[in-house]
Amino acid sequence: MFNQRIKIRQLLESGTEGQEAVVMGWVRTFRNNQFIALNDGSTNQNLQIVAELGTLEDAFLKRITTGASLKAVGKLIPSPGKGQKWELKAEKVEILGDCDPEKYPLQPKKHSLEFLREIAHLRFRTNTFSAVFRVRHSLAFAIHQFYHERGFIYLHTPIITATDAEGAGETFRVTTLPFDGTPRRDDGSVNFTEDFFGRPTNLTVSGQLEGELAAMALSEIYTFGPTFRAENSNTARHLAEFWMIEPEMAFYDLEDNMNLAEEFIKYLIRFAIDNNREDLEFLAARLEEEEKQKPQSERSEWGLLEKLNFVLQNQFERITYTEAIDILLNSPAYKKKKFKYDVKWGIDLQSEHERWLVEKYFKKPVIVTNYPKQIKAFYMRQNDDGKTVAAMDILAPGIGEIVGGSQREERLEKLKERMREMHIPIKEMWWYLDTRRFGAVPHAGFGLGFERMVQFVTGMSNIRDAIAFPRTPKNAEF
Ligand code: 4AD
Ligand code: MG
Repeated sequence: MFNQRIKIRQLLESGTEGQEAVVMGWVRTFRNNQFIALNDGSTNQNLQIVAELGTLEDAFLKRITTGASLKAVGKLIPSPGKGQKWELKAEKVEILGDCDPEKYPLQPKKHSLEFLREIAHLRFRTNTFSAVFRVRHSLAFAIHQFYHERGFIYLHTPIITATDAEGAGETFRVTTLPFDGTPRRDDGSVNFTEDFFGRPTNLTVSGQLEGELAAMALSEIYTFGPTFRAENSNTARHLAEFWMIEPEMAFYDLEDNMNLAEEFIKYLIRFAIDNNREDLEFLAARLEEEEKQKPQSERSEWGLLEKLNFVLQNQFERITYTEAIDILLNSPAYKKKKFKYDVKWGIDLQSEHERWLVEKYFKKPVIVTNYPKQIKAFYMRQNDDGKTVAAMDILAPGIGEIVGGSQREERLEKLKERMREMHIPIKEMWWYLDTRRFGAVPHAGFGLGFERMVQFVTGMSNIRDAIAFPRTPKNAEF
């Protein structure tokens, strides 16, 4: 059997003196023709493999280069060297895959995150990215555990749909029609009846609408899958393909919704702290270095772990949109004309406004509720004031909006009226409206952007570093 190996993490955690072990991994460094630092992705700690001087031939030694993969068999012994408890005294070393050091782009030195994005196929082999992806894995696992513990059903909603759930017109078209010779009707418009699905279809922007259908029978569901948005925003917080968690709950109002979202975010953070402490400590140190490059005024007041612990220990601030606007209008930033975008009731809060509220004013996550109906989606429940809807966004320090959600409009007539006003095709959405015809109930839900959550927990400042292969405008490499 080839794979009778032990992972380095397990060996370092529970190995015993003299234990015979087979390890496999990739060489990080090789010193003095004797010390191999081997990494297999199970931890950022390398296993030091010691070859007895003179036992390996020169030609073989030359093949032990950074990036090469190898198998080593030996005995675990206490390490006399600094910084590690154990090392492996090699009895046998076998190269599995050579790596030409002249051509290998990753050298044992610091590379910029920008450079690493260009070699995203190799960046998993750095300490930073292996830590990020282990934390990302933990968070994904914790999501299922959180909802499973609470009796929610994991629902797989379609990737290809005929709806634009958010009504924002930012969808990617899915078609098999030819570009040349597109079938057209007499009036010149494209004849989609000849397309694969017989109608225009697109990649989903959200699983919410289908989630609502299931919640009207299963009570509490959640989705966790990829969603796609063709918004042309080249920012550190936007991806064209991102993962979203969307719970949808029958018999919930806006307050229940906020409580669940806050509990959920805290659960994920705690899970990472409990299960990924070593990686988070590494990422905290990385972030501290990054912060040092910034001018004093832009540096964050907290370290990564301090921030996470603070969020765990404190209630999120809850304010209405109207209160948020008042706070902004009275802010020194507004008075000194520091905001690029104007502030008045009715505006969509810009990232600079969100960040000011969260980072400068409240200094903690903030839940903003009851937004003007003009700037929110058609499905949000209308409040009695006629102006606002029962929406809630959660804003996080360093990130801005991390959650968007609402209580849903369960009253058929009100919903239809809003759909007409917003030019949402009522006839095509007969199935959505049926839930309001047959045993409608008050219900609510929200969407958590998974990569923004990964950013928040890992302290990575660019969302492109929170997903393995980011899709952004003009970029779909790998
Ligand atoms: O606020 P959004 O657009 O809400 C919805 O899609 C609702 N259907 C959710 C629901 O109520 N079930 O998106 C939800 C979250 C945002 O708060 C943000 O965290 C993330 O999804 N998000 C993005 N993340 C990365 N790149 C983008 N382009 C994103 N757009 C939204
Ligand atoms: Mg939103």
